[in-house]
Amino acid sequence: MRVPMEGLPERVTIYEVGPRDGLQNEKTIVPVADKAEFVVRLADAGLRTIETTSFVHPAWVPQLADAEDLLGALPRSPSARYPALVPNERGLDRALANGVTEIAVFASATESFARRNLNRTVEESLAMFAPVIERALADGLWVRAYVSMVCGDPWEGEVPIDRVVSVASRLAELGCSQISLGDTIGVGTPGQVTALIEAMVAAGIGAERLAVHFHDTYGQALANTLAALRAGVTTVDASAGGIGGCPYAESATGNLATEDLVWMLHGLGIETGVDLDRLVATSRWMAGRLGRPSPSRVVQALSPADDGGRTSTGAST
Ligand code: HMG
Ligand code: MG
Repeated sequence: MRVPMEGLPERVTIYEVGPRDGLQNEKTIVPVADKAEFVVRLADAGLRTIETTSFVHPAWVPQLADAEDLLGALPRSPSARYPALVPNERGLDRALANGVTEIAVFASATESFARRNLNRTVEESLAMFAPVIERALADGLWVRAYVSMVCGDPWEGEVPIDRVVSVASRLAELGCSQISLGDTIGVGTPGQVTALIEAMVAAGIGAERLAVHFHDTYGQALANTLAALRAGVTTVDASAGGIGGCPYAESATGNLATEDLVWMLHGLGIETGVDLDRLVATSRWMAGRLGRPSPSRVVQALSPADDGGRTSTGAST
């Protein structure tokens, strides 16, 4: 049943991160053909923006070492946007050589995670991103920037809002079109999210320029999403089936599941363009490929009782 609430947008853009954030932490390498099928099925389910892979050092994220092969295997369609992570100029060269038109750099609000994830201080990583952003914009690319650890950090604990705002402002000044606020370890709660977005807006980064990226470690991702929507955000990151995590943040589990997000948004009468049945079928198929059930509550609820989103291995189910 669709029952709208006051103060929410009519439409939300879902930025699907399953093929990148969802798969990057998988130890067993998923074949390129399966990754390509995953992306195509997500697009068929109505997702228009699908973060496909990362042009990072292959030794740092072995699962995504096949970035070139995956992009080569994907059909191009004018309606599909396939952004990819790019940390440095070497990554940008690789992305450009493979026809990428949308990239995402990824910064941290904390020194501990910057060091572990990028082998740099926060300042050094911003210096690494600056020429990437400049060149990408000059080449007509769309550039997103993530800020990680916006609600807490496993090594440093609480993260002051002004540190998040400071890093986000620097990235906005460098010309990034969109800033995605990453609760990498899923510790945030709705009041914190509201305060964070209000601080961004007060610093001149309007809600229309923000996205939210919640991992669901503490089960707060949907509540936090609702808080973000009420604060004016209309782009929400999610991962099909709720798979995912970050190899350099041990306590990070999967992202907000796209199905859980779609269930809530459609219940609120908010348009997404997503066909939930097709999406659930895709996540059940991927769960079969990964050999374990989807953590998404909606995938489990909409799967046959004897299955629980666990055993689907057929390409068409
Ligand atoms: P480094 O070791 O400092 O690299 O790593 P370097 O600049 O010193 O270069 C060393 C060698 O690596 C050189 O080769 C480079 O050419 C090569 P050599 O001259 O020795 O032969 N190299 C590369 N090769 C291929 N592609 C590249 C590349 N760059 C350098 N792009 C680096 C620095 C940034 C490369 C490394 O730290 C890295 O790859 N980190 C990626 C970590 C990562 O992908 N983490 C997961 C994504 S972030 C995330 O999940 C959070 C997010 O979801 C939001 C949230 O949840 O909060 C986005
Ligand atoms: Mg993430």
